[in-house]
Amino acid sequence: MQKFDVIIIGAGAAGLMCALTAGYRGRNVLLLDNAKQLGRKILISGGGRCNFTNQNIEPAAYLCRNTHFVKSALARYSQWDFIGMVERHGIEYHEKTLGQLFCNESAKDIVTMLTTECEWAGVKIQLRTEILQISKQQQGFGLSTAEGTYQCDSLVIATGGLSMPKLGATPFGYKVAEQFGLQVLPTTAGLVPFTLQPEDKERYEQLSGIALPVIATAECGKQFKEAMLFTHRGLSGPAVLQISSYWKPGEKVGFNLLPETSFVDWCNTVTQESPKLSFKNALSRLLPKRFVERLVELGDLPEKNLNQLGKGEIQQIADYLHNWQIAPNGTEGYRTAEVTLGGVDTDELSSKTMEAKKVPGLYFIGEVMDVSGWLGGYNFQWAWSSGYAAGEVV
Ligand code: FDA
Repeated sequence: MQKFDVIIIGAGAAGLMCALTAGYRGRNVLLLDNAKQLGRKILISGGGRCNFTNQNIEPAAYLCRNTHFVKSALARYSQWDFIGMVERHGIEYHEKTLGQLFCNESAKDIVTMLTTECEWAGVKIQLRTEILQISKQQQGFGLSTAEGTYQCDSLVIATGGLSMPKLGATPFGYKVAEQFGLQVLPTTAGLVPFTLQPEDKERYEQLSGIALPVIATAECGKQFKEAMLFTHRGLSGPAVLQISSYWKPGEKVGFNLLPETSFVDWCNTVTQESPKLSFKNALSRLLPKRFVERLVELGDLPEKNLNQLGKGEIQQIADYLHNWQIAPNGTEGYRTAEVTLGGVDTDELSSKTMEAKKVPGLYFIGEVMDVSGWLGGYNFQWAWSSGYAAGEVV
């Protein structure tokens, strides 16, 4: 039986941050993972460039049943702290849009940085280790694995959520929570493309590949102004991924297809300038031509010249374009989701340390908890901040 001060299960973003933080405090740390490679989600994130944080991190950008829960950890290890580490390692980065920070070269730089820090902090990393059983002992926890048995004072669960099972996502963390009597809130896929009802799929599937800027609005009132993309399965793009986290089955999503233009004003001006221009050609100046043609073909928009449009009709078109409604059939699910909504209930955990209130010495960090962020570096920041919070006390 090998003894460690701290054992962390899950060598992803949160586990690595927790391990290096605890290691620098002089704790004897073992970081375990069942995969062959650590940090796999970091490696594929951000199209291989890892959107590692966001300049505009704020608690309001997180979904969690207790909206105040994230405040303490985000304040104590902020985006600026992580950016500081990235800069100390000489990793070049840039802002892509909306405060989102990406590596100039490769997401590998972030994994190398974290593993180097773990090495400097004296962390022992062991991959390909399947955890068979966890037991509470008089002092601390016992772990039996396929590689042997271990004992630790503090046990940290950092095994992530259910998104992307092909990258090794497992429900392990939820099972551990349940084993110790902690509540796990129901999980669903978040930051995920929508699939369409069969009739809408037929209407729009030929538009696959078309992208346009929109404001997407969920029934709860949440809005995102970003791009929407038609795919052969349904709808994707940042605006759709963002709003998917606020969508519930059966609800509609509204899209303002002309977020920068008042259709009525624009239509009146163009009609004055070119009254005989076809409405279709005129609107194709504002929206992708193929999209406009399809909406006309479907009879949703009129096949007329501008001067043939009456005032009421112009208002009707404005209502349609400024609030184009879709009732998704569902989402693509965990297969393509970037995050998992729900998870270990934060009411069970300390917001300062991530320790389970009922089980001293047991900690949950990262995506396994009921905390999910917006698209754009918010989820990694939660992994860094929650990992640090636990790493400071384990
Ligand atoms: P994470 O999933 O990173 O790590 C969990 C670890 O636990 C893994 O190493 C896994 O192998 C291990 N594990 C699981 N089950 C185990 C078991 N039974 N035994 C032992 N080990 C086990 N976020 C962001 O902020 N910016 C971005 O650019 C992206 N991009 C992105 C792209 C894609 C395709 C996905 C799927 C996700 C993103 N994300 C993202 C989200 C981000 O990757 C995610 O929120 C964090 O990786 C969560 O960090 P964790 O450490 O909690 O889990």
